[in-house]
Amino acid sequence: MKAAEEGRMTTHVRKSQSVSYTGKKNIKQKNEKRFYNATPMHNQSDQTYIDQTAGFVKNQLANAEAGHDWWHILRVWNNAKLLLTKEPADRLICELAALLHDIADSKFHDGDETIAPRITGEFLSGIGVDSNRVRHVQDIVQHMSYKSSLDGATFHSPELAIVQDADRLDAIGAIGIARAFHYGGFKNRELYNPTIAPVIHRDKASYKNSTAPTLNHFYEKLLLLKDQMNTETARTLAASRHAFMEQYLEQFYHEWGSVGQTD
Ligand code: ADP
Ligand code: NI
Repeated sequence: MKAAEEGRMTTHVRKSQSVSYTGKKNIKQKNEKRFYNATPMHNQSDQTYIDQTAGFVKNQLANAEAGHDWWHILRVWNNAKLLLTKEPADRLICELAALLHDIADSKFHDGDETIAPRITGEFLSGIGVDSNRVRHVQDIVQHMSYKSSLDGATFHSPELAIVQDADRLDAIGAIGIARAFHYGGFKNRELYNPTIAPVIHRDKASYKNSTAPTLNHFYEKLLLLKDQMNTETARTLAASRHAFMEQYLEQFYHEWGSVGQTD
């Protein structure tokens, strides 16, 4: 998904969801235009649930760090709506889960993975969403993280597939690069260290405990995501973002030159 399309999507969101956003609008990118052909429609009560949830999440994430803040939620929500134009699923579940998926990320809550599903359940039940959908959104919130997928997650649904892809698209490409270095700064990590090789994390504990330089994260996660997309539509959208990261890495090594090479 390129800037022009994202601009169009966000413009659409501004109209239908009253969310302010200043996306870029004018760059011509023809290839992915075919994805932008449907306006999400909801019945009135579904729209009310979504509006209430968006307001709640925006408020809750007011002080979140930039990689997991309201802008991230908006981008993931837009990605989910985009995927929904091509992939069949329950629209309300997808949109609610996209909005709530980072409501209490365990890595910012001492590793506690029960908080997010609990807040999700309490909030959605409180505004009157039916109990089956509440349970489904809780399951998505609990299972969609990359860490869960390393742990052999057992829950699957078309709605999880869509929201997970929407989140993964935001982890790659230009925005993915910005988020990775932002997170690395937040954790006081080195940008790059040619003496520390990337490792492929085979389980959740190893992934969570890594303190490697940020560039390693590209090899440990970001470059793997294009092949881990659940839906065909997301796989297509991931391709150009992936290519951009490869180009970025090439330039990075070019500029780094021989700095720090010890032999
Ligand atoms: P999830 O929340 O899906 O389990 P993570 O918490 O691993 O995924 O990562 C979410 C985002 O946070 C990543 O896409 C990346 O932008 C950033 N991030 C997480 N771990 C690292 C890391 N070790 N280095 C750089 N960025 C990271
Ligand atoms: Ni997220």
